[in-house]
Amino acid sequence: MRDYYIAGNWKMHKTRSEAAELAKALTAQLKDGKHKYLVAPSFTLIETVAPIVKGSNIRLGAQNCAQDEQGAHTGEVSVLQLKDLGVETIILGHSERRHVYKEDDGLINKKVKLALSHGFEVILCIGELLEERDAGKAEAVCERQVVKGLEGVKDLSRVVLAYEPVWAIGTGKTATPEDADAIHAYVRQVVGRLYGNAEAEKIIIQYGGSVKPENAAQLMAKENIDGALVGGAALKADSFVPIAKF
Ligand code: PGA
Repeated sequence: MRDYYIAGNWKMHKTRSEAAELAKALTAQLKDGKHKYLVAPSFTLIETVAPIVKGSNIRLGAQNCAQDEQGAHTGEVSVLQLKDLGVETIILGHSERRHVYKEDDGLINKKVKLALSHGFEVILCIGELLEERDAGKAEAVCERQVVKGLEGVKDLSRVVLAYEPVWAIGTGKTATPEDADAIHAYVRQVVGRLYGNAEAEKIIIQYGGSVKPENAAQLMAKENIDGALVGGAALKADSFVPIAKF
């Protein structure tokens, strides 16, 4: 049986004091939560949030990392720096990284391999654009992103996938539980083809895209949906906690 894994991606929100307040509220309110949890604050907030979540059931995440360990990469943050702050998990290939900052599958794959080689857990995000869905290409796009994103990765034990249809992110439009589950099932099949059925059965596939307290339980009830990657609703304990305890 797969455990549910609920992650909050805080994106480019919050100051240190706001982040500390939210982290404190979450550690208190999720103390008795039964699932696996994560918060991913901006780089500048990580040092503030780290001691608050330390020893709790909430993992510490980052939203990105550079493709190299160190060097001349102005404006980037390295895995060594993230490890130094106590980060355990790195979100990679988020649609905003792919589409706004033009990260391609090759670059994302480099980051995935680097992060895994430094012992991090990776949440690899995949998902199609609306025009790709309308053209009937949703499965093919997700398949390509999984195959290329995981190229050369041998061990899936620290890999989580997050299916986030781009048209559902921050738009209030959620994929129906049935549509999301169909893609999750397809992605699981792809993982099975690449790594065998036992790995496919084990891998956690989160859904992301306008997850709210009102729709979380229906999404999580689907066979292939194993958790959520939450953006907007992760910014307040009042909305994240009910999702986390769906
Ligand atoms: P959203 O974002 O919940 O605000 O749609 C999800 C995400 O981008 O991870």
